[in-house]
Amino acid sequence: MPDAAAGAPAAPPGALAPFAPQGAFRLCASTELAEAGVAHVFDVLLWRRPARAFALRFEGRVVAYLNRCAHVPTEMDWQPGEFLDAERRFIVCSMHGAVYEPTTGQCIAGPCAGARLMRIDVVEGAGEVYWYPSPDIGPVVFDEPT
Ligand code: FES
Repeated sequence: MPDAAAGAPAAPPGALAPFAPQGAFRLCASTELAEAGVAHVFDVLLWRRPARAFALRFEGRVVAYLNRCAHVPTEMDWQPGEFLDAERRFIVCSMHGAVYEPTTGQCIAGPCAGARLMRIDVVEGAGEVYWYPSPDIGPVVFDEPT
């Protein structure tokens, strides 16, 4: 199992501990997520099967969701990391055009109106973004060489 908060530097004795939320996994540097920009796409396990998720910054906050449309369980980006419409206001599924509110993940138009994307909790601090696993969505586990 990868280390929680992997990548966070160890604090020297007497120094303030770095921001490393317990149980969370490092996702990326805050600077990688521009406002309404390209999302950071990452691998997860959904019910122990490989899946993809994404995080993006919208209205200053980082939000993350499973990359799985509520209409048909398929990935939604029209180019890697590109989830937003031309005006950069809504998440739009590239398959049949479902429109999602970025801050809530709720589908507001399209074939699955009223449904929601699966949200992933995130936290940002000290220039880093971390995500929290849930009972449904966990980190990818790499086997250690023997
Ligand atoms: S698969 Fe996303 S709108 Fe149909």
